[in-house]
Amino acid sequence: MTAATDPNRVLIFDTTLRDGEQSPGISLNTAEKLEIAEALARLGVDVIEAGFPIASPGDFEAVQGIARQVEGPVICGLARANPADIDRAWEAIRDSARPRIHTFVSTSDIHIEHQLRSTRADVKGLARASVAQARALCDDVEFSPMDATRADVEFTAEVVALAVAEGATTINIPDTVGYALPDEYARFLTRLYELVPELAGVTLSVHCHDDLGLAVANSLAGVLAGARQVEGAINGIGERAGNASLEEIVMLLHTRGAALGLTCDVATTEIARTSRLVSRLTGYAVQPNKAIVGRNAFAHESGIHQDGVLKERSTYEIMDARTVGLDANSLVLGKHSGRAALRAALEDLGYPIDGATLNAAFKRFKELADKKKQVTALDLEALVTDELREELAGYALDWFDVEASSRRPPHARVGVTTPDGRKVEGAFTGDGPVDAVFRAINAATGIDARLREFRVDAVTGGQDALGEVNVIVELGDPDAAITTGLAGVLAGERVTGAGQAVATDIIEAGGIAYARALSSAVRRAQAAAEAPEAMRAALLATP
Ligand code: KIV
Ligand code: ZN
Repeated sequence: MTAATDPNRVLIFDTTLRDGEQSPGISLNTAEKLEIAEALARLGVDVIEAGFPIASPGDFEAVQGIARQVEGPVICGLARANPADIDRAWEAIRDSARPRIHTFVSTSDIHIEHQLRSTRADVKGLARASVAQARALCDDVEFSPMDATRADVEFTAEVVALAVAEGATTINIPDTVGYALPDEYARFLTRLYELVPELAGVTLSVHCHDDLGLAVANSLAGVLAGARQVEGAINGIGERAGNASLEEIVMLLHTRGAALGLTCDVATTEIARTSRLVSRLTGYAVQPNKAIVGRNAFAHESGIHQDGVLKERSTYEIMDARTVGLDANSLVLGKHSGRAALRAALEDLGYPIDGATLNAAFKRFKELADKKKQVTALDLEALVTDELREELAGYALDWFDVEASSRRPPHARVGVTTPDGRKVEGAFTGDGPVDAVFRAINAATGIDARLREFRVDAVTGGQDALGEVNVIVELGDPDAAITTGLAGVLAGERVTGAGQAVATDIIEAGGIAYARALSSAVRRAQAAAEAPEAMRAALLATP
């Protein structure tokens, strides 16, 4: 039932950078994708689905960069069932030591009739030809019959049998719209095993979406029915309600592995750090009560629970926070710590930096240590990811002034550097100081962006905490042109962009994050302009 050597080992396939990145408002640049891929390799996932290379030049570059630099996991590129997609995916991943092409075509009649405007016979032809083409290029080929759980199981079995005959090494059964119930999903897989006995010779994989909150339950049902690869995304991000949460699957196997008779080979202590990185770079917050990685996932509030845990942990705890690496909030440095101590602490945290980057991080650390008595590992991690962020050509906030009072509306002035290096200034009187800064940035750049989301989180507790701000902006209006030269692209369309920043002053963090969000939205609009027509909707997806 599996291509892995141990029949009880479940392979962990991470799609944070592909399906996860399709979440509304997320737009990671190549450096950010590489940083996440390195974190996933440290986590020890078996497969990283690095992206959809044909989608845009940026996607291609990121997948190729990951394939060339990230060692350990299989590096996978997604391709629709057509020759151009498959060639492009192969080009992107071929330099990996362990490349995989993942190709897919829908088998549900709903998709065949309304989306593909095709026939079952054509779908069979596409599946056969695409797997054959991929297999001629690459030894490791995954095939997915998309929307399988709403498709006729007999027809899906015919398509799967063709894919296996053409040499697919993994067959993935997606619950694309998160519609299946756990027992239905298990029965679907069991029936496929009956109809396609050759499935026993390849890895069966599960890919579940969370529209009904069943993604992890369905994945577990699939594994119990014989699947030995689970696809998921860190923090459960992805299309609509997201994908199965990878950390929940991993900790489920880790905690209940004995009962299930299954294992996986993941460095669980890297989970919390990877989750924080993904949240920070995507701008997607983790809900406080989220299983495994939520702030409160290991907190005990009620007196009865606290009393029990103090007497004996196992009274109310089924996992140890240290197992997922949630003990990183220890004090690591103080006001008098020097450059060498910072360098050693950052190395411990997985950021081996030197030279100009270390100098920049040291300057930020000193500024923080002046304001904050205790600098924790979480503070350092937030500072260093902010500092190491590769600034792509975009708008950058140089300075701001805000006059705020309870007697008149706040007035802000800002200075911004534009992507082509010009220094521009703007002013605005807003509803609040943050609003005034954001609108002053609009005035300075001449872009009429609208704020879609604004979130402030404290990196750690305490009054002197570092503030982390996430912003999502929206550009484009069917009636209004924007002055970036993209009006044609955006006519009748809307495009969002996310930005994030950390600082002890939340107005400053907000302004920097807003300028980054604006830059990301403009880059997305430009990428959409360059992308093939069929990919534009996905690239312009709005919440
Ligand atoms: O949900 C889905 O069907 C997918 C496929 C591309 C595997 O993401
Ligand atoms: Zn999916």
